[in-house]
Amino acid sequence: METIMREADTVSEALKRFGSPLFLYSERQLEDDYARIRSALPEQVGLYYSMKANPNPSICKMIHQYGSPIEVASIGEYHRAVSIGVPAEQIVFTGPGKSREEIHACIEGGIFCINAESLQELRVIQEEAARLGKKVPVTLRINLMTTRQGSRMASVGIPTQFGIDEEQLDDAVEYVIGQSELKLIGLHTYQGTQNFHLDYYRESIPRMFAWIRRLKEVHALPLTTVGLGGGFGVPYFRGDDPFPIDDFGQLLSEEISKNEDLCLPHIFVESGRYITSRMGNYVTRVLYTKQSHGKKFVIVDGGTHHRAFSSVMGRSFKTPLPNRYMLHDSEHEIMEEPAESTNGFVPAQIVGKLCTPTDVIQSSVLLPENITMGDAILFPNSGAYGLSCGNMHFLSHTLPKEIWVAKNGALHDISWL
Ligand SMILES: Cc1ncc(COP(=O)(O)O)c(C=O)c1O
Repeated sequence: METIMREADTVSEALKRFGSPLFLYSERQLEDDYARIRSALPEQVGLYYSMKANPNPSICKMIHQYGSPIEVASIGEYHRAVSIGVPAEQIVFTGPGKSREEIHACIEGGIFCINAESLQELRVIQEEAARLGKKVPVTLRINLMTTRQGSRMASVGIPTQFGIDEEQLDDAVEYVIGQSELKLIGLHTYQGTQNFHLDYYRESIPRMFAWIRRLKEVHALPLTTVGLGGGFGVPYFRGDDPFPIDDFGQLLSEEISKNEDLCLPHIFVESGRYITSRMGNYVTRVLYTKQSHGKKFVIVDGGTHHRAFSSVMGRSFKTPLPNRYMLHDSEHEIMEEPAESTNGFVPAQIVGKLCTPTDVIQSSVLLPENITMGDAILFPNSGAYGLSCGNMHFLSHTLPKEIWVAKNGALHDISWL
């Protein structure tokens, strides 16, 4: 109760000082979640932070200071990483659509490696390296033909723009070997986000090591690096089980032991959502409530332009983890949405302020029946794929502030957009 009371005070103060809507990021939660994943992984396994999940420079800096190198998906992310003090040798660049200019800039900057996703991209990397008179480390991203896809948004084992199909890998390797400007240092795979089961990794990890073994044997390549992906799931809906991160760590450790003879000094996984999702609350205030054809609507001062998560793949129509409410007349108390309908709560739809019927944050939730103008609704799990992932400029609405709640309770405005 004491923690809840203190949190309510923090939320009230943040709303008073910074207005609404806003993102509140908890240092304590970030630290806990980072420690959770880090301690589950074998010590020698690197944990890259996938900046796309939350590119706020202060957040990225914090995670880098915890010990993570950075995985970027654009030259903008690359420059941001460098600007917050990440050495170029601790950055990998992944993504199927890297432009020539992006490739040129990161080679010039001395990036650790480019994770190439197609034969044509390899040619562009080679040409830009030649232009700069440099030799570039590359890894090849593989579209593994696993029988299990694992992720709810799979990008392996299917026709996809991501990575190089296994049947084309030999051609890609032959090409790289023939280019003096390219240095093949290893392989990479990434299967998609929101993966909750180990089955996929039980197949993908041995398969990646088998590929490394084969390339070492056939081509006598001095490979050093293997990126085993990530996409570790975070429960967002009722009924979601947490990702078994300890079992994953155990599996990884066993597979590494079996493949010790490969002498790979650089084995890594990457994560964005698992590290940053839980630290964030998206806090909105109720603008209006109304009834339409027997249904209750609550219109808040935010929307899916800030919380893109809600608007894709029919998510707003699933049953989310409980929201939390802070009513005007009890500003020092946060109440949690009940699991089942109960006295004092009514079914309602929470929508945002965009002029589109698709701006549904949650289609079916239980709201306090006395909720009214000015009351606050807190959406949990909003630290990842929030603001920067949304259609934030649609209708030119004011951007929400991003507020860092330090462990000592101090609030800092770390907005950057
Ligand atoms: C190549 C790559 N790595 C890492 C990630 C981050 O995934 P997550 O946020 O699920 O950890 C993504 C997400 O799209 C990705 O495409």
